[in-house]
Amino acid sequence: MKLGRMNHVGVAVPSMDEAIKHYREVLGAEQICQPFDMPAQGVKVAFVETPGQDGTQGTQVELIEPLGEDSPIHGFIEKNPLGGQHHICYEVPDIQAAKADFENKGLRILGEPRIGAHGTLIFFIHPKDMGGILTEIMETPKGIH
Ligand code: CO
Repeated sequence: MKLGRMNHVGVAVPSMDEAIKHYREVLGAEQICQPFDMPAQGVKVAFVETPGQDGTQGTQVELIEPLGEDSPIHGFIEKNPLGGQHHICYEVPDIQAAKADFENKGLRILGEPRIGAHGTLIFFIHPKDMGGILTEIMETPKGIH
């Protein structure tokens, strides 16, 4: 396992439109992508870019809004009506190697690696094995940065 860049912090929001307005008007975010649905994950997603210094790549806030009552984050929003921090995502160079390594260490992987919102393979690690933080591991996108 080789820890890479922190790619994003996942933030659950009750309303995508209001969240985008907040990030633009209160935080002054200039780059927010058009929200898109990921029906397989049960969420609507949009990325807020936080620029790095001197033109380096910053990190992102991943806004996620539940798509209907079957969404895996529906319960989170019920418990946290204002929304809130949901997960942290780290990049790794090799997703299968990372999965094997975490499994060898006895960590609980939630499901098989699948294509995430950035178009590369991701998986989640149970928060009980990660100090209470739902953790997403994502293969570093190739050729984009
Ligand atoms: Co994420």
